[in-house]
Amino acid sequence: MKLDFHTHGKLAKKLPFSRQYTDWLFGEAKNAGLHAICLTEHFNTLQFDELYGYLLERGSREGDTLLLENGLRVFPGMETDIAEGGHILSLGAPEAILELNQRLAPYKMPGHFLPFSRLMDLFSEYEVLVGAAHPYREGGHIPELPERELARLHFLDLNGKDVAEDRERAERLTFALGERLEKPVVSGSDTHQAVQYGCVYTEFEQDLRTIAGLYREMQAGRYRITVSDQAAFQVKTAGILKRALKEIHALGGDYVQVLLSDGKEKDGPSFSERIAVHYQTTVIDYSPQADRMAQKLAQAANEMAWKGYELISVTATPSAKAILVFRRKSLG
Ligand SMILES: [Fe+2]
Repeated sequence: MKLDFHTHGKLAKKLPFSRQYTDWLFGEAKNAGLHAICLTEHFNTLQFDELYGYLLERGSREGDTLLLENGLRVFPGMETDIAEGGHILSLGAPEAILELNQRLAPYKMPGHFLPFSRLMDLFSEYEVLVGAAHPYREGGHIPELPERELARLHFLDLNGKDVAEDRERAERLTFALGERLEKPVVSGSDTHQAVQYGCVYTEFEQDLRTIAGLYREMQAGRYRITVSDQAAFQVKTAGILKRALKEIHALGGDYVQVLLSDGKEKDGPSFSERIAVHYQTTVIDYSPQADRMAQKLAQAANEMAWKGYELISVTATPSAKAILVFRRKSLG
């Protein structure tokens, strides 16, 4: 079973959840040759509940996992920030992950993250495997935590993004920490954008579907990590594509449509045409009396509302006319 221990189901934390995008990601995970993924979405991503709710709706339950229609197995998980700086992965049954996410609600904003020890206290109430994500990523301080605290971890993540940037450093430091703590090192790609799937994966001898079974095989070392020759290229390309798609979204475009259109032009207005009609202006005729002016403003606003525009500003001119600016509602 080829498993990716660290993946995301959304393009970015602050973007809305999109069923089409998530479906596309899972399809691409399968196409990349993976049999299973750990979905370790950021604990403070927008619509965390909806993403996992969608998985529960679409997948059939097998042990602690959800098997999707395309045959991809998903181990539910979460990636949580800690106060000291660094990310902690947790893997468990969907109910455990969803409940943990709710209990972490007060600690989701920067400045409010839980310290490692308190997060581990919370995790210890559930049957979850807990791992240090990319322990040597810049800004993280996991390796500096007290040894007795680190002993509470179950595994370490040899992270695809870090391997792509400097394989020698990522492997040397992560495996050394694994030896020091006597913890298994497994690998995850940290994919938010499908091109990155398969840059690293962990292959188990058996097909697994429970957290306990997975942990047993990890502890026994019955797995092998593979790093793709293309890892650096994949991670770099995925990063560029992620930035481009986020920019399309920020400009009011539909990044999911761009991905799913198979290179074919969509019917209807192009992206640049849609941007061009994002704002519209209207001038109200000469209306010296206030009540007549008000009637005309209301009429113009109502007519534009029918066309999908909302009024955002009115300027009355000295010549008793008014300039109205409207914005498209759907792109607002
Ligand atoms: Fe991540």
